Amino acid sequence: MSKRVGILTAGGDSPGLNAAIRGVGKTIQGHYGMQMIGFLGGFRGLMENRSTRLDGNILSGILTRGGTILGTSRDKPHRMLVDGLMQDMTETIVQNYHRNNLDVLICLGGGGTQKNALHLKQQGLNIITLPKTIDNDVARTDTTFGFDTALGIATEAIDRLHSTAHSHHRIIVVEIMGHRAGWLALGAGIAGGADVILLPEIPYNIDHVAEAIRRRVKHGKPFSIVAVAEGARSLEQAAMIKAAEVRKLNAESKKERKQAKRELKSLEAHHSGIHTVNLSEQLERLTGLESRVTILGHVQRGGAPSAADRLLATRLGSACADLIAAEIYGVMVASEGDRAVAVPLEEVAGQKKLVPLDHPWVISAKRVGTSLGD
Ligand code: F6P
Repeated sequence: MSKRVGILTAGGDSPGLNAAIRGVGKTIQGHYGMQMIGFLGGFRGLMENRSTRLDGNILSGILTRGGTILGTSRDKPHRMLVDGLMQDMTETIVQNYHRNNLDVLICLGGGGTQKNALHLKQQGLNIITLPKTIDNDVARTDTTFGFDTALGIATEAIDRLHSTAHSHHRIIVVEIMGHRAGWLALGAGIAGGADVILLPEIPYNIDHVAEAIRRRVKHGKPFSIVAVAEGARSLEQAAMIKAAEVRKLNAESKKERKQAKRELKSLEAHHSGIHTVNLSEQLERLTGLESRVTILGHVQRGGAPSAADRLLATRLGSACADLIAAEIYGVMVASEGDRAVAVPLEEVAGQKKLVPLDHPWVISAKRVGTSLGD
C-alpha cells in the first residue's frame, strides 16, 4: 500500500501551515510507511517541477514555526504569468503530477485553493485539500487553521489601542483583515471590546456610527475603538457595488462585461487602507473627536501558531493521511466539532462562509451595546 504523496501550500500564508505539513507527513511516513514530497511556491512549484523531499528530519522542529517551509504563491493552474503572458498551465501541472508518480496531491489553502483543487480533480488527478486561512471563510468546515492565531493577534492589538484611545480621548479606527468575510473583525472586536464593529456583511450607515460614538461621549466616555474589516462598506458603497454586479450579470457584450468587472474591481480595491482613512476622517468631522488609524495588515498572519491552531492543523493533517490510506480522494478534510470529515470538493469550491446576520456573535455583540453600524 506504499504511496507517493505530493503536498503544496497555496494562497496567502497562514499560521499552522507547518503544523499541518508535519501532521500529514509524520502520519504518512511514520504510521503508514508512505513517501511524501513537497512542491515549492504553491501551484507554480508543481508547474515548474520544483520539489523537495520531506523526510523525518525536515519535519522536525516546524510545529511552532509561522509561515510555510514550502513557500506559497497566489498562482492558479489555469491562469499563470509565464514568460510575460497569462497562460493556462493545467496541462503542464497534470504532466508533472504523473512525472513524479504521485498517487495523490494534497493542497493546503483557502477559498481560491479549493477552486484550483477542484479544477485539478476535474482533470483526473487525486486531490485532497486542507482548509487554511486567517479569514475563516471556507465553506463546510467549522473553522480553518490560522484563524485562531490571527484572532489572538488582532484582539491583543485592540487591547493595546484601548489604553492610548482612552488617554488621548480619541477615536481609533483599526483595520482588520477580511475582504469578504468579517469573522476576524467580529471575533476580535467582541473579544477586545471594540465599541463599533464594521463588517463586509453589514453595510454601515455613517450617521449611525457617529451617533454611537457621540452617545458614548455623553455617557462620559470620550474615546472609541472602531474595528473595521478590510471589506466593510457603507450603504452607499454597497449600493454602487450591487449596481456594478447587476451590470456585469446583464452585460450583453464581452466589452460591457469587462468594463463592469473593471468597475467592480476598482470599487472593491478602494476598501483597503484608503477606505479606512476616509472613514476615520468622516468620524472626526461628525463627532468632533480626534481620530487615528491603525492598519494591522500582515502582522495578523505572522509568527507562531496558537495552541488551538497547532492542534487543529495536526488533527486535520493526520486525518488526511487516513483518507489517503483509504484511497478517499477529491475531498477537503473539514473540522466538524472534534471530528474530521471528508467533504466533496464540489461542495466547497466557489462557496464562501460569510457571517450570517443572525449569528450568535452578531446577536451578543449587539446585546452588549456594540454598534455594528446598521
Ligand atoms: O487570504 C487571507 C488574507 O490575509 C486576507 O484576509 C487579505 O485580504 C489577503 O489575504 C491579503 O493578501 P496578500 O497577502 O496577497 O496581500
